[in-house]
Amino acid sequence: MKIIKSASAVQKLTSGLRAKNKLIGFVPTMGYLHEGHLSLIKFARKKADLVFVSIFVNPLQFGPGEDYKKYPRDFKRDEKLCRDAGVDYIFYPDVKELYPVIYSTFVVEEKTTSGLEGEIRPGHFRGVMTVVLKLLNIVQPHFSIFGQKDAQQASVIKKMVNDLNINTKIIVAPTIREKDGLAMSSRNVYLSNLQRKDAPYLYKALEYAKRKIEDNKYNRDVDFLSKQMYKLIKSRPSVTKIDYISFNDTETLEEMKTLKQINKKTGVLVSLAVRFGKVRLIDNMVIKR
Ligand code: PAJ
Repeated sequence: MKIIKSASAVQKLTSGLRAKNKLIGFVPTMGYLHEGHLSLIKFARKKADLVFVSIFVNPLQFGPGEDYKKYPRDFKRDEKLCRDAGVDYIFYPDVKELYPVIYSTFVVEEKTTSGLEGEIRPGHFRGVMTVVLKLLNIVQPHFSIFGQKDAQQASVIKKMVNDLNINTKIIVAPTIREKDGLAMSSRNVYLSNLQRKDAPYLYKALEYAKRKIEDNKYNRDVDFLSKQMYKLIKSRPSVTKIDYISFNDTETLEEMKTLKQINKKTGVLVSLAVRFGKVRLIDNMVIKR
């Protein structure tokens, strides 16, 4: 496994690999790897000749007052995990390698980013899309893998790849959870003992929605269902705020007001964001009826 810090060195390498018809799989990350990241890497390992992982905590996607400085970092540990998972190359650039002082070009999407995380975290997806486009141009992968854990991010990136005719395939892999249902996240290390005990209620609320939606006889509206989910989550003492519980079309992310709107094939994306003091967790589930 090789660690490369230079964007132009990676680009030169991958141009050569593409010319030799080597299939390149790519997993972009912000590091502090957990089983969720590793599942994406394993998937890439199965399909690709060469697996690239990027580790870059992207300042551009953090808003003022968010946790950019505090975001957990442990490159040595990540390096070992990547080596053990059979990664071929880690792209590990410094901030100034991707954003030199003179940097001034950004990617903005105007529809899929308007609700959910995009609404609560203005500028977040501008940062995500800009860095992902740069990474795709540098690594030039045949396919890249993203997690369903960040459902809106995956949709927004698919939209960007389609809208901008980027020559790569986006694959979305399932959310990996702890035994009690909590979705794995680098941010889970911030949770206190009590918050950690309460955090699986995000998943419990999603499971509750799943049971109700899958029951064809259940005919309450979306408002009623989300109120029940609110109640369940709010009953936990360490929950300080629910940013949103939302029902959206899985492709367009348009908000759904009634369960009647659920597309039989693609289902509904039920997603939520909950604050435990300063720690903010997101989760989601695609549910079919
Ligand atoms: P990061 O949060 O490190 O996540 C990297 C990838 O791992 C993302 O595609 C994310 O959806 C996926 N992932 C995270 N937790 C997961 C879980 N429990 N199960 C399955 N997949 C999971 O997302 C980012 O970084 C950044 O925004 C990035 C795309 C790298 C751009 O900076």
